[in-house]
Order: sequence, then structure tokens, then C-alpha cells
Amino acid sequence: EKGNHAHFMLKEIYEQPVVVAQTLRSYLRAVEQRVAMPQMDFDLGAIERVVIIACGTASYVGMIGKYWIERFARLPVEVDVASEYRYRDPVLPLNTLGVVVSQSGETADTLAALRHMKANGVTTAGIINVPTSSMAREVDLLLSTHAGPEIGVASTKAFTCQLAVMAALSVNLARAKGKLTPEEEADIVTQLTESPAAINAALAHDDEIKAMAGTIAGARDVLYLGRGPDYPLALEGALKLKEISYIHAEGYASGEMKHGPIALIDDSVPLIVLAPSGPLFDKTVSNMQEAQARGAQVVLISDAAGIAQAGENTIATIEMPQVHPLIAPIVYAVPVQLLAYHVAVAKGTDVDQPRNLAKSVTVE
Ligand code: M6R
Repeated sequence: EKGNHAHFMLKEIYEQPVVVAQTLRSYLRAVEQRVAMPQMDFDLGAIERVVIIACGTASYVGMIGKYWIERFARLPVEVDVASEYRYRDPVLPLNTLGVVVSQSGETADTLAALRHMKANGVTTAGIINVPTSSMAREVDLLLSTHAGPEIGVASTKAFTCQLAVMAALSVNLARAKGKLTPEEEADIVTQLTESPAAINAALAHDDEIKAMAGTIAGARDVLYLGRGPDYPLALEGALKLKEISYIHAEGYASGEMKHGPIALIDDSVPLIVLAPSGPLFDKTVSNMQEAQARGAQVVLISDAAGIAQAGENTIATIEMPQVHPLIAPIVYAVPVQLLAYHVAVAKGTDVDQPRNLAKSVTVE
């Protein structure tokens, strides 16, 4: 039931503070300030390499996971979309952990990739929302998201819950590899524990985002920019927008701007910039300013410090709470989802059942 909300997608966006908290409860021990994984019958400390496979929105969780696992656990991580992975005869060395990410647990290509890894002797884990699904039954280690049923075709709450579990897995791997002090672990646990409240604060900007949706709804093309873990979020923003509003959108790593896409920029192209303040902020802002000099209509999504520094000459700024840059994607996902939602509503498209799309892609 949609309750008071006009669409399942909006209801599911609003459920995020609760379902992310619910998911985190299974993976965090608040008192000990530690991350905890379910019982497993293999040694995480023996893992030397991670391969993450998924499709669509779930594949962006994999890309963000690569930043986290490399940073915390110092393990090499490979990420691929399942439809490419399964047909390219991938190299699978010993001591690889294969991770699949899937809301449904039934996506045909991801399931085939999982079976391929298992057949090659790889230990597997799955970040999965449907506990009775094929993937949930077949992985060696099931890492459930507790997002509840997701009805809207556009994935929203499953994405943030998958990120929460991916963060916990990254920290766990880091501890198993001896790369994280108890203080560092406690710090990340605190950040994660506070993320539902930060998501709530992000939701408070719904009306502002709705008010500017009309401007974006008139665009033919929209570009999203982000750096580091916000680069995959830029891809997610673009996917969400094209999926439900049918506006052409692309996500780019900010630094790639001048390697091609800047040629598209004029005053008819909105540029959505995802830039929490932190070590990468100045770099992203300089890319943003290059685009502004060519007339780009910038929407800057940042925190108070970022907006104070770079909010001028934008068509809008959306102020997120101050969060650790590494967990920013969990919070910045909210304005990205709301923007796609309100643009689609402004255009009058079928938000919950976009044309040509199925909730679960069980054919190749
Ligand atoms: O059920 P899955 O997570 O395996 O689905 C993967 C993709 O089909 C899915 O994320 C798709 O990209 C969504 N419609 C995006 O909103």
C-alpha cells in the first residue's frame, strides 16, 4: 500500500531512514562499536582479492564498494556488470571473494555470474533483499538487506540498504586483514549509525527539489558529475532520471569532463554536481566552474561549507548535512532520487511502471 504517498517510489524513498537503520542493526554492534557479520564457514582474513558483480543500480553499489574496500582493507577490487563478466572468460585466482549485489536475487545475468564463480571454486557472498531468492539460496554467505518489498521499478531503498551492507562488509574485511585499528572501526561505526538521521535531514529538502523540478523537466539532456565514491552516484542519478522521466542523462567522473562531455555544455544543459566538502571538493568545483564558464546551469548538491564556498552562479543549491565524505553516497542518494521523482511527476510519466522496464530482469 502506498499510504499517503502518490507513488510507491516516493513511499520507498521516505522509508529509507527506517530501513537503513533496520539493515544496519544486523551488522553493527553499537555498544562495542564494531561491525559484525553473520556466521561464515570460511576465513575472511585469507581473502586476497574481491570481485563484485551486479546489474544497473546494484552495480553502482559495487563501484562504491570498490572505493571502500580498497581504502579500508587495502585489497584489490574488480567490479563488472554481470552481462559482461559472464561472457569474458574472467581470470579467477585463488582466495578471491565473489560478491553479487541484487535486490531481487533473480536477475538472470547476475545469477549466471554467481554460478560461474561458484563453478570455478570461488567463495561467494551476496547482498540481497529477497531472502527466498535463487541467489540468496546459492551464495556461501548471505548478507541480507532489510529494505522490505520494493515495488517501484526504480530502485531506491534497496540501493541505500545495499550501500549500508557494503560498508559493513568493507570494514569487516579491513579488520580481518588487520588494516583497521579499533578506533578507526569505531569511527566508521559511528558514521554509519548516524546515517539514518542524515538521510532524514536530506529528505527535509523535498519541497525545494520539487520546486526546481520544472526547470529540469524542460531539458533534453542532463549531466551528473561526481568524484570518488560520488562518481558512481552520478551514474545512479543519470540512470534514475532516464529510467522514469525519459530525459537523456549521463553521469561522469568530474575529471573526465574536459575529455569530451564539456563539448555538450551550453545554457540548455543542467549539470547536477554531487560534491560533499572534503579532500576532493576543490577538484570537483574547478571542473564545475569550467562548465559554468560555458553557460552550464548548475545544481550544486553539497553541505553548508561547500555551498558557502562554491554556491554562486548556480541555478540551485541543495544543502546536505555534513557527513564523512566516504559515507556521503548513502545520504546524497536521497536528493538524486527525489530529483528524478519530481521531474518525472512534472513530465507526467508513469513513475512506478516506466515504459519498457521490468522490476526483475529474469531473461538475458
Ligand atoms: O534485482 P536487481 O538488483 O538484481 O536488479 C538490477 C537492476 O535491474 C536494477 O537495479 C535496475 O537497474 C533498476 N530498475 C534501477 O532503478
